[in-house]
Amino acid sequence: MVKALIFDLDGVIVTTEHNHFIAWQRTANSLGIEFEEEHNELLKGVSRADSLKKILELGSKTISNEAFEALLKSKNDFYVDSIQELNQSDLLPGVLDLLHEAKSKGIKLGIGSSSKNANFILKLIKIDHLFDVVIDGNGVEHPKPHPEVFLNGAKSLGLSPSECIVFEDAASGITAAKAGGFIAIAVGNPNIAEMADTYFNDLTEFSLEAYA
Ligand code: BG6
Ligand code: MG
Repeated sequence: MVKALIFDLDGVIVTTEHNHFIAWQRTANSLGIEFEEEHNELLKGVSRADSLKKILELGSKTISNEAFEALLKSKNDFYVDSIQELNQSDLLPGVLDLLHEAKSKGIKLGIGSSSKNANFILKLIKIDHLFDVVIDGNGVEHPKPHPEVFLNGAKSLGLSPSECIVFEDAASGITAAKAGGFIAIAVGNPNIAEMADTYFNDLTEFSLEAYA
């Protein structure tokens, strides 16, 4: 029986992936590197620093450590500015109902995100109080596809990975969940359906009954 649901944040709970894309496109273009939606797929679930490394690889560029740090900061400043108006209407379909249903059944809720802005976003959209544990990009040594973020979440909840479902929209996240021994459900990204245990277009299609 499943005792916890652990959610990725960007692209599973909330529609922030487009904001990340616009911010990274601006960064890439400032380096003279072309960056479109298909390139952004490679960055989903990937930490901020690893994302910039991938963009530099894409453009075969090398830059100084100072320039690297400055770009990370300006990308994040632009991104954070762009999400100031985020609210519950930006939650993805089925999220809020599932969170409430799970809570009413005593199932624990967690966030396992690569983002260092996770707590800020959860507070902004006023759903932070629903989660028993939030593990984010500040709390791990090894980012996704390493399973650390999800393993730390399960550990904090006192559960084993096989008792937890992980919901993910990114290849790096499904790889992390599977490597950690979690039930891995892909949501909203058909490209990763084959890697996961199950796939849903959105969380309205998921039924807790099937796992409880
Ligand atoms: C992941 C997103 O959740 O967090 C990525 O899928 C993002 O697109 C990464 O780059 C890091 O986020 P942040 O907010 O720490 O820059
Ligand atoms: Mg995601």
